[in-house]
Amino acid sequence: MLILAIETSCDEASVAVVRDGEVLAVKTLTQQIHSRYGGVVPELAGRSHVELIDPLLKETLSQTQLDFQSVDLIAATVGPGLIGSLLVGSGYARGLARALDRPFLGIHHLEAHLWSAEIDRPEIPRPFLVFLASGGHTMLVLVKHLRYYEVIGSTRDDALGEAYDKVGKLLGLPYPAGAEIDRLAKTGNTSAFEFPRAMAGQGYDFSFSGLKTAVLYQLKKMNSSQISDTLPDILASFQEAALGSVLDKIRQAIQTYQPRALVAAGGVAANSRLRELLTAAAENRGIPCFLPTPEVCGDNAAMIGYLAWKLNQAGLARAADDAVRPRWPLEILSPLVSAA
Ligand code: KG4
Ligand code: ZN
Repeated sequence: MLILAIETSCDEASVAVVRDGEVLAVKTLTQQIHSRYGGVVPELAGRSHVELIDPLLKETLSQTQLDFQSVDLIAATVGPGLIGSLLVGSGYARGLARALDRPFLGIHHLEAHLWSAEIDRPEIPRPFLVFLASGGHTMLVLVKHLRYYEVIGSTRDDALGEAYDKVGKLLGLPYPAGAEIDRLAKTGNTSAFEFPRAMAGQGYDFSFSGLKTAVLYQLKKMNSSQISDTLPDILASFQEAALGSVLDKIRQAIQTYQPRALVAAGGVAANSRLRELLTAAAENRGIPCFLPTPEVCGDNAAMIGYLAWKLNQAGLARAADDAVRPRWPLEILSPLVSAA
C-alpha cells in the first residue's frame, strides 16, 4: 500500500511517501515569513502553502522514483489547525485523489503525533502514555489502542512551546525560540532564579502563562546588561520550572495509570533537557521511553502517512473522517472513552 501524505495544518508544508508503514521519502519546509511577526500569521501561512505544495509534492515523489500511478491512497491533515492552511493541503490532496481515482483519507493532526514515535521503530507496547507538546497543544494522553485514547491532562492556557516562544520574545530571541532556548539553557544555572511551578499537585492539567509572567516581572527588575549577562541562567531557570512541573505530573500519571511505555511527541519533544528528564522518569519506573527523532517531533507528513497506513490496515479509513475541522478535540475520536 503506497500512501502519499500531506501536512499543512500550520506553518510547515510537508509531503511524505509511505509504503506499508515505511517512510520512503519525506520533505518538510518551515515557512520563514512568520519570524518577523513573532508568531504565525494565518493568512500568510495559507498563501505560502499555495505556492509551496505543488513543487514540494512533485520533488518528494520524484525522490522515490515512483510516479502518481503507483499511489494507492492520498492522505492529508484535515484538522485541527489553521483553516486556510488546512484547506490548501487537504484541497490539493482531495483534487489529486479525484484526478487519480484513488481514495482520500483525512487525518487528525494530534492523533498522528500520538503514533509518531513508532515510525521506523517496532510497535510501542500498549497502553502507552504520550506527552504531546507543541506550539499549540500540551497534553497527556493514554493510548490504549488505535482510536482508543484518554486525554488525562491538557493546558489551561498557553501551550508549552508557546511559553518558550513568548519568553524568547521577551528576551529578543527570534521566533520560534524553543530550539535556541534549549541551546542557551545548557550553559545556564537552573537555580539562579526561582520561578513558579504552576498547578503543582493539582491533577494532570498544565498552566504556563503564570510562569511567562513571572519571567516578565523578573526582567522588569533588571537592566539590559544584567539581562544579557545572565541570559543562560534566566533561560535555564525558566526551563527547569516549566519542565519540572511537567515531569511531576508525568511521574504521577505513570504511577496512577501504569502505562507500559512513555512516549514524547510534538515540536517541544525535540528539547534535550525534556528528553533527558523523560528518559530518567521512565527508567526509574522500569518502562521503556520512546522519543521520536527531532525531525519527526515537529510537524511532518511522515506521521500523517504512517497513521493513514495504520488506520487503513485496521479497517478504520472511513470517508466520514474527511471534513476539514479547524477545531477537533482528540476525545471525539474515542467515543468509547468519552462516553464512559
Ligand atoms: O509541533 P511543532 O513543530 O508545531 C506546532 O506548534 O504544531 O512545534 C513547534 C513548537 C514551537 O513552539 C517551538 O518553539 C517548539 O516547538 N520547539 C522547542 C524545541 N524545538 C521546537 N521547544 C523547546 N525546545 C526545543 N528544542
Ligand atoms: Zn503539531
